[in-house]
Amino acid sequence: MEVDNRTDLIAEIKRLKKERDAVILAHYYAKGEIQDIADFIGDSLALAQIAEKLSEKVIVMCGVHFMGETVKILCPDKVVLVPDLAAGCSLADSCPAADFEAFISEHPGHTVISYVNTSAAVKALTDIVVTSGNAMKVVESLPKDEKIIFGPDRNLGNYINSVTGRQMVLWDGACHVHEKFSLEKILELKKTHPDAPVLVHPECRPQVRMVADVVGSTAVLLKYATESDATEFIVATESGILHEMQKKCPGKTFIPAPASDSTCACNECSYMKLNTLEKLRDCLRDLTPQIRVDEAIIDRARLPIERMLSLS
Ligand code: 13P
Ligand code: SF4
Repeated sequence: MEVDNRTDLIAEIKRLKKERDAVILAHYYAKGEIQDIADFIGDSLALAQIAEKLSEKVIVMCGVHFMGETVKILCPDKVVLVPDLAAGCSLADSCPAADFEAFISEHPGHTVISYVNTSAAVKALTDIVVTSGNAMKVVESLPKDEKIIFGPDRNLGNYINSVTGRQMVLWDGACHVHEKFSLEKILELKKTHPDAPVLVHPECRPQVRMVADVVGSTAVLLKYATESDATEFIVATESGILHEMQKKCPGKTFIPAPASDSTCACNECSYMKLNTLEKLRDCLRDLTPQIRVDEAIIDRARLPIERMLSLS
């Protein structure tokens, strides 16, 4: 029976986790059943902060590839597993390291800030890494006249420029999930839910940000939803976050913002959803697939990530 199978699977994951001296981290966009079994859930920043302090020998990152790489760079002596290595990221893919290197050479004298949604090779070309949870703070910590390259997310970069008045040079990349949210459909929803605050991730396009009551990382949006007196919310970020929002606020209603090119009411990151309970069990059992990062890259990518952590 399905329920028995699932109960067995969860018991097996818990047993293997103990045997392997492993810990499970999950991003808020992971499938709900994975979030439920994880030892820690969080946004990109929280997961990096947690990973750095872990004592277990094996870390399973139920997120996407770049998140696993960040953990490996911070914890090079540990076994770092991602249940499905095909869990990539369209935003990270929009910024190949060789092209980014050429872009940096075209802008001499600039400090290079990269969003954490990048490959380890791009981080190795970077002065400071940021996440959506601390990007504004990190940029603001630099002198007003500092010349800055910001990559790869043009929407997050544009958001920081608009709030801080800076003129960072932006790499032209984007996330295929967040770019899809439709202003028109959100305005339609507002007609039937006029009191629902609109929660927007900064990877969304500027026109969607304009109708936001709050713009922030998944953790910031979650905190806002938890603390607000409102009873319903329109959520413009990947729909996996609704799982934790609903758990934290059982009496509130969360409405996923619609995408422009579909009749579906939600936006899913197909990469995040590649990780399943079965694959989580298999990776703990077989200790594969492991994240591997070249040592030379680890040496160069570690400092920009540590700078970010110390500024957070
Ligand atoms: P957070 O920085 O909010 O965790 O977002 C990560 C991400 O992949 C957004 O698409
Ligand atoms: Fe990458 Fe977008 Fe998926 Fe986040 S939601 S992991 S930025 S593809």
